[in-house]
This record gives sequence, C-alpha cells and structure tokens, in this order.
Amino acid sequence: MDILGTVNHKIIHGDALEVLRKAVEDNSVDLIFADPPYNIGKNFNGHLDKWDKDEDYLNWCYEWLDLCIQKLKPTGSFYVMTSTQFMPYFDIYLRNKLNILSRIIWSYDSSGVQAKKYFGSMYEPILFCTKDKNNYTFNSDDILVEAKTGAKRKLIDYRKTVPTVYNSEKVPGNVWDFARVRYRMDEYENHPTQKPIALLERIIKASSNEGDLVLDPFLGTFTTCYVAKELGRNTIGIDLQEDYIKIGLRRLQLSTEHKGVKLLKEIRSFETEKLATANNLKLFEEPDGKRIHRKH
Ligand SMILES: C[S@@+](CC[C@H](N)C(=O)[O-])C[C@H]1O[C@@H](n2cnc3c(N)ncnc32)[C@H](O)[C@@H]1O
Repeated sequence: MDILGTVNHKIIHGDALEVLRKAVEDNSVDLIFADPPYNIGKNFNGHLDKWDKDEDYLNWCYEWLDLCIQKLKPTGSFYVMTSTQFMPYFDIYLRNKLNILSRIIWSYDSSGVQAKKYFGSMYEPILFCTKDKNNYTFNSDDILVEAKTGAKRKLIDYRKTVPTVYNSEKVPGNVWDFARVRYRMDEYENHPTQKPIALLERIIKASSNEGDLVLDPFLGTFTTCYVAKELGRNTIGIDLQEDYIKIGLRRLQLSTEHKGVKLLKEIRSFETEKLATANNLKLFEEPDGKRIHRKH
C-alpha cells in the first residue's frame, strides 16, 4: 500500500479491502461512492474484470460492502453501483444493513455494443443508502432541475387554496439521463468505464457539504475525487492500478510527476491533427513506416 497526495486529498495505491481495513478510520466518512468492477469481463489495464464463479464475485463484494458500512459516519450516505445482473444481490444484502432510499437508474443515449438479437443495455443501476433514515445530508436545493410540465406551459395550479403557477424547478427523480464519457469529450481519460463528471456532481452536491470527507474505493479515473475537490470536499481514493493512480495525481493537480516521470495527459489522435494544422505541419511516412509531423 502506497499513500500519496495530501492530508486533505489522500490517494492510496493498493487493494480496496486492505486499504479500507488498515488506512481508513471507522465511522469517519460522510459519503462513499463505490463503482467496483462489474464482473462482466472489462479489461482494466491488463486485469480482467471476471471472477471464476458468480459466488466468488459476490463474496468479494460483500466483504467491501461491509467495510464501507463500517467506515461511514452514523449520518453518512453510500452510493453503490454494479452491473444490472448483480445489483439485485447487492440490494437484498444491503437492505438488512442500511436504509435504501433510492434505486437510481443512470440512463444513457447509446450502449457500447449495438445488440441485434436482444435489447441492448442502456442503463446502469445505483443504490442510494443511508445509515440513519432520518438523519442524513440531502441538499435538495443544490441539485434542482427544470420541471418540464406545467411551469413550462405557464399553467396555473387551481388545486391550491390560492391558485399559483407550477414550480419551474424540482428535485430530480430516480431516472438520471447523463451522456457516457466519449473519446472526444474534454473530460475523457484512458479507462474503460469512466463515469461522467455530471453524475458525480449530482451525488456529491446532494449528499455532502463543504469540508466533508468523500471516499471512493475504486477510483479508476478519479472522477469522484476530482469533482469532490472542485466542490471543496476532502477526499480519500483507492485503486489497484498504478496507471490510474497517475491519472488521479494529475487530474487532482496534486503532483506533476510520479517516480521521476512527468504526468501528462495522453494526446488523442484528433488533437495531434489539430495541433499539426495549427503549427502548419504535414504528416509524413518514413521508409520504416513511422509517421512524423514536419513543416516540409
Ligand atoms: C468501474 S472502475 C471505476 C471507474 C471510476 N468510477 C471512474 O469514474 O473512472 C473500477 C476500478 O476498480 C479498480 N479495482 C479493481 N479491483 C480493485 C481492488 N481490489 N482494489 C482497488 N481497486 C480495484 C480498477 O482498477 C478500476 O479502475
């Protein structure tokens, strides 16, 4: 286990189970967002997200779910994701230990693979749970969205004692439409399951306050800690892969180098073309097949 970053923004390179057990105090965290491997065969930098048996995956999940509960403050909130096929097990497991307040659907516009012989998956489930069903943070005013019904058509609600116009804003329901992170988006990082900034903004604004501690045991591209830091929260983030730890150090602007190597964002293919055009460069192929940009 390697603890990097600062006192307010700890980045821990290591296994989530070990780090949660040894490096995070019990009852100390205000908000946990956990987006683990889904056991569906994604490739995390050479580590295949697939367990031999479903039971093995679930038993591993039950271990870190219990640890997350142990680390949460009595007023804390827990958001957890997994694949559609495993979420029912999480739900049944957690409903005896926490209060499940919302079963959220993150719905998106296109699936990675266009299914032709079945209905493609266009959503991922999220559970929103609290330790105490009456005493928890929920900043509804910070996450209001446009109410698209009566207010838009300037209708008057005559059912009220004094007729009034409909509210133009409302607290979002449990179906959330956010685009998936795509290669051409500014926030894109090289990771197979990066979650959008907008999704984490809603969760962190609703369920934590400035100065609170936010923890993510499976950080990937560090979306959670990046957004939490921008919003003035303190953070602890964990990931097993050093390449993802390097993304975190750079994205949170905690370091410009790691082990003597500069932390630079990978330039995407369309950006090299843009840069070359701006610098009046042309693409040439060397005799050995190598491609280079040159003036002439
Ligand atoms: C679904 S991804 C998280 C994506 C992240 N929410 C984001 O927005 O980029 C899961 C992450 O868990 C990490 N991981 C897998 N097993 C782990 C373990 N035992 N301990 C810590 N991290 C682990 C993987 O390296 C991967 O980056």
